[in-house]
Amino acid sequence: KVYSKESVALVKQSWELLKVDAQANAVAFFKEVFEIAPAAKGFFSFMQDTSIPFEDNPKVKFHALQVFKLTGDAAAQLGEKGAYELLQSRLHSLAAKHLSKGVQDAHFEVVKEALLRTIAAGLPDLWSPALKQAWADAYDALATTLKNEMHAQA
Ligand code: HEM
Repeated sequence: KVYSKESVALVKQSWELLKVDAQANAVAFFKEVFEIAPAAKGFFSFMQDTSIPFEDNPKVKFHALQVFKLTGDAAAQLGEKGAYELLQSRLHSLAAKHLSKGVQDAHFEVVKEALLRTIAAGLPDLWSPALKQAWADAYDALATTLKNEMHAQA
């Protein structure tokens, strides 16, 4: 798939803004995931600790930031030389990790919807159909790469 210069620029520009408040956006992203699919909580080891609200759990904060940053950083590099390097360098172990947790193809749609909602809420002034499409395409490319590697390892 070829990404237009415009959509790559949209993802990059919005990602720079989202990263300013990466921690808060990352937690918001996980809140969206669990709102869309409450059962997804069962996948995450750190969600078993219910003694503190999940947004105050340092493990949740760390993990949310990792997932959010990897997705955004890789998405922002799409269309550039070496676009997948960031993801590729961790693809094997990431696929193994997700397989071992029982993540299935359908779950990637939940994460996609949560990501788009987080961007819409985080950047209301910038949100547009073009921005939404640019992020959807970037996420789909990442998800397909990760899913293919999971299928190969299954
Ligand atoms: C862990 C990225 C989609 C569930 C992780 C980690 C990263 C990551 C970077 C940390 C891995 C580590 O511990 O070394 C991504 C990306 C995704 C994606 C880039 C999409 C393109 C999903 C989906 C699910 C999911 C769809 C399903 C709910 C998990 C779980 C863990 C994890 C359960 C392990 C958490 C734990 O340690 O308990 N993911 N992920 N991820 N991810 Fe994803």
